[in-house]
Amino acid sequence: MDITRIVTLNMFTKIGQAMPQELGVYKFVRRVFEYQPEKTYDFALYQDEAGHLVLAKMWTGNIKNLDFYWLKNETEIYKALAQTVSKYKNINVSAPSYKGAFHTSNSFILLIDYLVEDRNLQDLSVDDFHSIQLYLHQVGRLIVGTRRVKSRTWWYFVLSGFVNMCVSIIRDPCYSVRYMRAYSALIKVLPQYCKESLVFTHRDIKRENIVMQQGCLYIIDFQLAVFTNKYVEVANTIIHCLEKKRASADFTRALMRRYLREGKESAVYKAFAYYAVLYDQAISRASTTEENRIFLNSIEQS
Ligand SMILES: Nc1ncnc2c1ncn2[C@@H]1O[C@H](COP(=O)(O)OP(=O)(O)OP(=O)(O)O)[C@@H](O)[C@H]1O
Ligand SMILES: [Mg+2]
Repeated sequence: MDITRIVTLNMFTKIGQAMPQELGVYKFVRRVFEYQPEKTYDFALYQDEAGHLVLAKMWTGNIKNLDFYWLKNETEIYKALAQTVSKYKNINVSAPSYKGAFHTSNSFILLIDYLVEDRNLQDLSVDDFHSIQLYLHQVGRLIVGTRRVKSRTWWYFVLSGFVNMCVSIIRDPCYSVRYMRAYSALIKVLPQYCKESLVFTHRDIKRENIVMQQGCLYIIDFQLAVFTNKYVEVANTIIHCLEKKRASADFTRALMRRYLREGKESAVYKAFAYYAVLYDQAISRASTTEENRIFLNSIEQS
């Protein structure tokens, strides 16, 4: 059974959320990060009787909150991925295994295997990115029947793209024409989008969401993963790379060259890159707003 009773609550720190002292067979060891206001979730290590470490990702608050929804989505994905282990094993790319989920009326905790020799990837290469895409497509074929994972079809992009365009224009009226052009580019490529089948897509591939362990790339943070079109993955990755700390300029340039400037599908990738910019602009991701404008400028010219 996944959902087990949380035994006791114990305040370990004055800041951050209270982490349960016991979660089923797992005992609290220590927090992973000190409280950081920009973080949405609390992280702690737990161990079983054999001393095996697992990582707890905890969300506390109103269950109507979107962050709760996304952590539940991530939990469903880890559960689905756990079923693929015996059927699909790639030595270069993998994901931590699912260990359980616990909830109370106002908190939800996901437990996954802790990658002990934890080291975030220093930089992502285009080859790494392709291996990750391949892994996701392969496991996607195995979990598509489980119906645990959500899908995002064309109408989602029509609606949310429109909303994001309106919000972006309100936020930033002097760039209205550019945002409208971005949205119309998205609408124009939808017929091509509809021809493609949906693939399993992470939508948040960036340096911080890949942990290296013994030469293997472990993908984490599956909150946003859905079945959608393959163009969405590349576009999201390019947008994440706009934030300097998330990838080197070389990687961003290489990926952009590959997908935005060359090849017959570039118009579709470009349109989805526009979509991702509209999204970032609409949610006012502070660190990317200025880069987004530069990026829109550069893809308009490419
Ligand atoms: N299984 C794991 N083993 C080792 N380290 C991990 C594991 N899962 C996550 N981490 C570390 O914790 C960090 C945050 O985890 P994750 O990406 O799942 O959360 P997040 O959604 O980005 O959190 P927030 O939104 O609060 O920033 C990762 O960048 C990684 O360094
Ligand atoms: Mg993350």
